[in-house]
Amino acid sequence: MNFVGEHILSVSQFERKDIELVFEVADRMEPYANRQRITRVLQGAILSNMFFEASTRTRVSFGCAFNLLGGDVRETTGISSSAIAKGESLRDFARVLSGYSDVIAMRHSEAGSVAEFAGASRSPVINGGDGANEHPSQALLDLYTIKKELAYRNKAIDDLRIAVVGDLKYGRAVHSLLKLLAVFKSVSINLVSPPGLQVPEEISDLLKTYDHSVSFFDKLEEGISAVDILYVTRTQEERFSSQEEADRYRGLFRVNEAIYTQHCEPNTVIMHPLPRDSRTAAQELSEDLDNNPNLAIFRQTDNGILIRMALFALVLDVVDLVDKHSSPVTWNTRRRSRKL
Ligand code: CP
Repeated sequence: MNFVGEHILSVSQFERKDIELVFEVADRMEPYANRQRITRVLQGAILSNMFFEASTRTRVSFGCAFNLLGGDVRETTGISSSAIAKGESLRDFARVLSGYSDVIAMRHSEAGSVAEFAGASRSPVINGGDGANEHPSQALLDLYTIKKELAYRNKAIDDLRIAVVGDLKYGRAVHSLLKLLAVFKSVSINLVSPPGLQVPEEISDLLKTYDHSVSFFDKLEEGISAVDILYVTRTQEERFSSQEEADRYRGLFRVNEAIYTQHCEPNTVIMHPLPRDSRTAAQELSEDLDNNPNLAIFRQTDNGILIRMALFALVLDVVDLVDKHSSPVTWNTRRRSRKL
């Protein structure tokens, strides 16, 4: 993959060496994300951040990542506040927006919509999530987090043992993460989901074509023992066709301190792409784990900035200019120490 000027629509675009390059560049972004230095390398560049489906992390961290590289951000949220509500096609929208922007990040509720948009865009487009299909930047930040968490435990992504838990049918972050894992070696994957929310066959088939062990579980406790990473996901109720369907699955799988302590190996890393559903009836990842040092969910969100900075730097071809355009920060950078 060349990166420069390319759309980033699916993790299928990445070979192992591309993933490793993204991670190397992400590491180099640490001083800027940590407010030790500032860089103006993208001064004058504009990101259009187009989010037609609800988002906190992806939208804000794409914007912050671009700002941290010195660029400006223009944002639209929700269909109703864009001309798509007047019937404008994604293709016309892309022709217009790409005349205004150097790069575009986009989220949309329809699978394939971001690729359709990108097909008419003159600027590179990064997929911020298209329906139940893919969420490439989330998968990259998840895998980057896995790499870092495993490094503390003297392990690597090759030979990883991971349990992926929850709504594996509609969870786009899971779909992208599983496809990314496929290019590593000897990964053992437990797919733990209620009947009816299993991972799409095309993804489990893809994993089996590589040298991976793939096991299916419909009981939470059986699928989460003997893993390095416990990756929990929310039930994607917004993708269901009826309220009855949502009611059927809500609260079925709940990871909490008691389950974790009883069934997981000590030091199993707990991850979740967030948002977690903290409503009383749901709680797939209980807040009673919040003080557990193995809970990596907020390290994941911090890593999102590094990965998204890396993607912008690669796509806009400024990786080797970032430091050249940098200077010390001018404000008090003392930040509260983090427990998590
Ligand atoms: N993980 C994730 O996509 O979060 P948001 O929906 O808040 O962007």
